[in-house]
Amino acid sequence: MRKNIVAGNWKMNTTLQEGVALANEIKEALNGVETKCDVVIATPFTHLVSVVAAVEGTSIGVGAENCADKTEGAFTGEVSAKMVASTGAQYVILGHSERRAYYHETPEVLKEKVLLALENNLTPIFCVGEVLAEREAGEHFNVVAAQVKESLFNLTADEFSKIVIAYEPVWAIGTGKTATADQAQEIHAFIRQTIAEKYGNEVADNTSILYGGSCKPSNAGELFAKPDVDGGLIGGAALKADSFLGIITAF
Ligand code: 13P
Repeated sequence: MRKNIVAGNWKMNTTLQEGVALANEIKEALNGVETKCDVVIATPFTHLVSVVAAVEGTSIGVGAENCADKTEGAFTGEVSAKMVASTGAQYVILGHSERRAYYHETPEVLKEKVLLALENNLTPIFCVGEVLAEREAGEHFNVVAAQVKESLFNLTADEFSKIVIAYEPVWAIGTGKTATADQAQEIHAFIRQTIAEKYGNEVADNTSILYGGSCKPSNAGELFAKPDVDGGLIGGAALKADSFLGIITAF
C-alpha cells in the first residue's frame, strides 16, 4: 500500500548554518514521536551533505529541490542527479511550479530530469498544478493530466512505481489560500484515475500523491483525512520545526 509522506521544501531559504540548525531541531522534535508518515526535508544543494549528516541514524529522508537534465560535462552551474545521490540524499523535487515558471522548465526537460533521477536511485517528487486562470476556466483537470502525461508516461510501470506526485495548485502556493480538502480530494482522485488508465489500478493505488500549497498544522488534518491525499509538500510551514511537526502529526 502507498506511503504517507510529509516533505518540506525549503526553497531558497536558510544559510548552511541555519539549515543545519533547522534539521537538528526537526530531528529533536521528532525524537520519540511515532509518526504515521515518512518525513523528508528537501534543501538547497549546498546544504545536502551537512543535512544528511545531521539526520543520520533517523528515518528522516533528505532531498534536493532540483537536478540537471544532463548527465555531466560543460554545464556551468548545474548539479547532476548523480551528484545529488552522491551526497546521500534519496529524493529530488522535480517540476515545481517555480522552476516551470521562473526557469522555463519544459515537459521535455522534466522528462530527462525524471529519467536521470531514477537512474541514480533518487525518488522524484514530481510536482503538477494549475494556475488560477486555468482553475477559473475549469481547465485544471486537463492541465494536470497533461503535466503528468508529458513528463512521466514514457516510463515503464516499474519506473513509474518509484514516482511520488505532488499536486500543488499555483494559486495556493505561498498565498495563504489553501485548496479545500474537497478540492484536493477531487483532483487527487482524478490524478490517480489518470495513472490507473495508463498503468493499471495496482500502480495507481500504490502511488503517493501529496498536496502542497499553504498547508499548515491547522488545515493538514482535514486534507490528510481525504482518501487520495497521502501527505503534503510543505513550503513556509516547513521552515519552523514546530509547525512542520504539527503537520507531520496531523495524520
Ligand atoms: P507553501 O507551503 O509555502 O505554500 O509552499 C508550497 C510549496 O510550493 C511546496 O513545494
